[in-house]
Amino acid sequence: MLLSVRNLEKHFDQSKGAFSGPASPIRAVDGVSFDIPRATTLGLVGESGSGKTTTGRLITRLLDPTSGSIVFDGDEITSLSRGELRSFRRRMQIVFQDPFASLDPRMRIRQIVEEPLRYSTNLKSNERRERVMETLDVVGLNPDHAERYPHEFSGGQRQRIGIARALIVRPELLVLDEPVSALDVSIQAQIVNLLEDLQQEFGLSYLLIAHDLSVVRQICDQVAVMYLGKIVELGARDEVYEGPSHPYTRALLSAVPISNPRLRGTRERIVLKGDIPSPANKPSGCDFHTRCYMAGDICRTDSPALEDSGKEGHFVSCHFAEGRREHIK
Ligand SMILES: Nc1ncnc2c1ncn2[C@@H]1O[C@H](COP(=O)(O)OP(=O)(O)O)[C@@H](O)[C@H]1O
Ligand SMILES: [Mg+2]
Repeated sequence: MLLSVRNLEKHFDQSKGAFSGPASPIRAVDGVSFDIPRATTLGLVGESGSGKTTTGRLITRLLDPTSGSIVFDGDEITSLSRGELRSFRRRMQIVFQDPFASLDPRMRIRQIVEEPLRYSTNLKSNERRERVMETLDVVGLNPDHAERYPHEFSGGQRQRIGIARALIVRPELLVLDEPVSALDVSIQAQIVNLLEDLQQEFGLSYLLIAHDLSVVRQICDQVAVMYLGKIVELGARDEVYEGPSHPYTRALLSAVPISNPRLRGTRERIVLKGDIPSPANKPSGCDFHTRCYMAGDICRTDSPALEDSGKEGHFVSCHFAEGRREHIK
């Protein structure tokens, strides 16, 4: 297993106001567990505010977890010192949604792509230059792009630059945080194809964070659905997409446009009421019960565990999931 995450938590303390009592912490990530086998993709989906980005930043150790375990290629990395982390940093890279925000406008592409190499390798300048040209080629950019500046590129090309910058240190795991969300649909497909090719060629593992479920369906092996800092459903892609068990997953999937016109109208759109509650003030019982169209009494008082659905590797946390009907009164 390349990455194993267990009971990972990140609680952000809020500064308390002068007249109010101590503010309760923001439970951004509230007990998350998953595995990513080598050369596979785990898709992490859920509404904005569900804790996806925080999870990505925790596993790449840009943030310190409050508790829990992160084992990368057999090593527990939650307790490593800054110095010890250095060699792991190279092995895990993040690609962000908006590459423009993370590209220095005054630097040439060759400098931008080269930068991570200066920090994490001892390569000589001619070797670094060679690696830059090789990596530009790998992501589908031309040698003459190397001398240009970020503003001269389209959104899709800028995302290629962002990917090149992550790949140049030859990582094993990429955290892709909404990598195509800012791009036009036609460009999205090109970047998704590139990511698939790169995975094949280099045996990369991905944590793909996205709110677009059709993108996730295209490239992931497993899907994890997050709600208020917890995974509510986790399983193999086809298992989750074809037989979603959690009412939240069903609602998310019901909003995905159906491309086949003959199938349109065969599925009911589930519209969730209200907004996601504050992670500093979570509901009692099941986190989802305030918005759930299936909620019963037990959901207001008891928090459901993430349990095996009976299909291998498919986990659901719902009192009313299949196989747990005994709760219905
Ligand atoms: N540095 C931080 N300080 C305080 N709260 C934060 C911080 N980062 C994220 N949060 C809060 O944690 C929750 C989860 O955020 P995030 O991980 O960005 O979710 P997502 O990526 O799914 O939209 C949100 O309520 C967000 O406001
Ligand atoms: Mg996010």
